[in-house]
Amino acid sequence: MKGVLICGGSGTRLRPLTEITNKSLLPVYNKPLVEYPLGKLVDAGITDIVIISGNEHIDQMASYLGSGGRFGCKFTYRVQDKAEGIAQALGMAEEFADGDSICAILGDNIYFDNLTPAITSFKSGGHVFLKEVPDAERFGVATLRYAQGDKAVVDSIEEKPKKPKSNFAVTGCYVYDHRCFEVIRNLKPSARGEFEITDVSRWYLEHGELTASVLKNEWIDAGTFESLHRAAVMVQERQK
Ligand code: DAU
Repeated sequence: MKGVLICGGSGTRLRPLTEITNKSLLPVYNKPLVEYPLGKLVDAGITDIVIISGNEHIDQMASYLGSGGRFGCKFTYRVQDKAEGIAQALGMAEEFADGDSICAILGDNIYFDNLTPAITSFKSGGHVFLKEVPDAERFGVATLRYAQGDKAVVDSIEEKPKKPKSNFAVTGCYVYDHRCFEVIRNLKPSARGEFEITDVSRWYLEHGELTASVLKNEWIDAGTFESLHRAAVMVQERQK
């Protein structure tokens, strides 16, 4: 399995912090944000990783992350010219994946669960990670057909619904087999003009091949001032 670290986008909700700096290089206590999702890939034994970022920030990313040797990894870099959606960013990894399955993770997502068992036991189809949240309308939202322990089968999935049908947010880590790239090539932009990762997951759902893990610990999408700050406080507390 190969890794995809998705670090494009303009980070508008974090301006002026992201005026010059890529969101994923902002500090979370004692490390740049990107090291937390990167660490999840490395923990799962994924070391061949492509980093996707916009043309305005790819140089910063390469300058900080380098060849990957420092992290025991081999990094490849790809530019997403325009931020037209997470699925489009993932599509940039098709050649790199070279027929392998992938684990894609957003550069602003911090997980306090161990994702490794779900990633390493993946065989085919799609797998997502869900977290119960009070403000599900801010995220992709899934309803579950059934859940047993931390394993679940997804019944429906929607991107930022106005009236969420459940509290389960679909978090920013996606494990897909190589068919995801063909799905992405055939995607149409959503009403908000983006190629949605939720539509990729929905393809697997419609083929009866989308499974999910339910997270037990905290998960943070550090895309706002509040969540970025909360992430720093949580990391500091855990290090005490
Ligand atoms: O954090 C989880 C959520 O991430 C999911 O629940 C949603 O289904 C998913 O759409 C996404 O929602 P966000 O509103 O948080 O996405 P955002 O635009 O903040 O982008 C997330 C990351 O992906 C961010 O680090 C930038 C990167 N990105 C985004 C876009 C739109 C790219 O690399 N390229 C892009 O074109």
